[in-house]
Amino acid sequence: MSAALLISDLGVSFGETTVLSGVNAEIRAGEFIGVFGPNGAGKTTLMRCLLGTLRPSQGTISIFGQGPVKASREIGYMPQGNVGFESTALSARALVHAAWRGEKWGVPWSTRESRAEVDRVLEITQASTYADRPFSVLSGGERQRVMLAQALLGQPKMLVLDEPLASLDPKNQALLIECIAEVKRAMNATILFVAHDMNPLLHVMDRVFYIAGGGALLGNIDQVVNSESLSHLYKFPIDVVRAHDRVFIVSREGNVTEAACCD
Ligand SMILES: Nc1ncnc2c1ncn2[C@@H]1O[C@H](COP(=O)(O)OP(=O)(O)O)[C@@H](O)[C@H]1O
Ligand SMILES: [Mg+2]
Repeated sequence: MSAALLISDLGVSFGETTVLSGVNAEIRAGEFIGVFGPNGAGKTTLMRCLLGTLRPSQGTISIFGQGPVKASREIGYMPQGNVGFESTALSARALVHAAWRGEKWGVPWSTRESRAEVDRVLEITQASTYADRPFSVLSGGERQRVMLAQALLGQPKMLVLDEPLASLDPKNQALLIECIAEVKRAMNATILFVAHDMNPLLHVMDRVFYIAGGGALLGNIDQVVNSESLSHLYKFPIDVVRAHDRVFIVSREGNVTEAACCD
């Protein structure tokens, strides 16, 4: 069986600046991959390459045996940060419906089939009860569950989730993670979950994809999240501290606070 995702010798440069180089990865269908690394490491850049919205400068990407642009129909995507709907009067349900129709704005034309699909994804993310309220009045946690719902439209084989936990409190983080873990179980979806802190994901992820210093390392948590591997990746000394089933990544020189998985 071919890999869900195969990345070979990937490199991305913007002008003179090289963000990523020599990135390799092979991810199996149904794996839950936690993607970590400091701000500016290139996590979003890599995700955009997978979605086909950014062309790598070097190397190849194969997703279910296809190039990124064709494969993008198989990928559900939650972009990083706010999505520009903060002041919309449209209901959450209308926004999800519009995403299904491939439209961003306007009143979507609906069919029984499209309404059923929207109901299905809102049910999975436990967003049905507030889906008819304007998106703008929803809490951060509610909005993220609506954004997850739109990513689930059409039963994608892969989910690319770019920092969906940012700005959520621990309770809403846990709820979102459980929804995603349930989707993985129910649909055998392949999950790429970008997060700043790996601790909330320790119990659900299968492997870690760590991006830092222009490179990346994919493996089991013990293989990747240790002082030797991360110091090699960062190109300076890193300590990994484990306490009370939590992981903390700290620089001996105190200069990678952003890299830390601590909160
Ligand atoms: N379109 C672009 N043009 C120039 N530089 C970019 C562009 N997109 C991203 N970058 C740069 O690439 C680096 C990685 O960015 P990004 O992938 O967003 O990091 P992360 O998601 O890991 O925080 C940053 O230094 C960013 O400024
Ligand atoms: Mg990012």
